[in-house]
Amino acid sequence: MAFELPHLPYAHSALAAHGMCQETLELHHDKHHQAYVTALNGFVEKNADLQGKSLEEIVHLSHGKADMAPVFNNAGQHWNHILFWENMSPTGGAIPGKLEAKIVEDFGGVAQFKDAFKTAATTQFGSGWAWLILAADGKLKVTKTPNGSNPLATGEGTALLGIDVWEHSYYLDFRNRRPDYVTNWLDKLANYEFAEAKL
Ligand SMILES: [Fe+2]
Repeated sequence: MAFELPHLPYAHSALAAHGMCQETLELHHDKHHQAYVTALNGFVEKNADLQGKSLEEIVHLSHGKADMAPVFNNAGQHWNHILFWENMSPTGGAIPGKLEAKIVEDFGGVAQFKDAFKTAATTQFGSGWAWLILAADGKLKVTKTPNGSNPLATGEGTALLGIDVWEHSYYLDFRNRRPDYVTNWLDKLANYEFAEAKL
């Protein structure tokens, strides 16, 4: 069965008051994410080795293989964006107690976590993602990946939150000011309840 674009878990206009306008979500979800899904389905159609595989399996089997880079890029971006929509909420920004306690334990405080996340997101050169992950050692960590890569592919840990720092995710709302987009995302958009549920 072909991969499909998931519905947004909120209206396209639902995040506008929190710094992500309707047009950004229409372009980013309906056009950019759809393009990754369409391209991925095209690769699956032409390659019997990919048929019947889950998205996660395709990410793993294409990772690090030069001849499968286009497959990896589109499968990775499909996986990343599915998470990204769930990682935002019209009531985002509030960190629930269990996650907050874990953040304090592993980063020293919420401010330290946000600083580390902002640093990762703003120093990712060009396009990519920054992540809050639960690493194999049981600790929360911040990491970043270029282009369509992600912690599933690198094996760094379970992704709890991922921010898209491709320009298509923030240019209409913040122009070239990626640091402002990241700060706003952490304070007003991030769905920390979703992250806590994955602990
Ligand atoms: Fe994106």
